[in-house]
Amino acid sequence: MERTLVLVKPDGIQRGLAGEIIARIERRGLRIVGMKMLRMDDALAKRHYGVHEGKPFFAGLVRFITSGPVLAAVFEGPRAVQIVRNTMGKTDPLDSNSGTIRGDLGVDMGRNLIHGSDSPENAELEIANFFKPDELVSYKRDVDQWIIET
Ligand code: RTP
Ligand code: MG
Repeated sequence: MERTLVLVKPDGIQRGLAGEIIARIERRGLRIVGMKMLRMDDALAKRHYGVHEGKPFFAGLVRFITSGPVLAAVFEGPRAVQIVRNTMGKTDPLDSNSGTIRGDLGVDMGRNLIHGSDSPENAELEIANFFKPDELVSYKRDVDQWIIET
């Protein structure tokens, strides 16, 4: 069982697409274990995107991600990281297949609607940046609705 961090970025909130984006991931079969609205400050944005520090797009990326509220969510399920990445599409919506969130709903590389962790290790670090342990729920086996067995 894996967990991953999803952010509906400020463009997704501004366009009223948060429900659509979350619903697409939920319908894949992953479960919501945490969710909150927040406005990221500079420090959180730089920590979250620290791997990109020094790149030419870094300043613009931080400015954009702090420009309005985001919806932060933690999803759980087997291979959750890659499932979300596949559901998101490629970084540039132009390269994203139809049927993906970015391919169906986005046009701009810098306004690509959603963030998803890119590895299980980064997911754990990113989740800890946004959620305290007691803000995440866990599900018991007897309410488990999984149809995927691994
Ligand atoms: P994210 O982290 O937001 O989920 O996106 P990602 O993994 O698909 O892409 P990543 O390489 O981590 O880049 C983070 C965000 O920076 C912007 N970007 N611009 N101009 C460029 O070359 C460039 N490269 C990346 C994108 O908005 C991307 O989502
Ligand atoms: Mg990334």
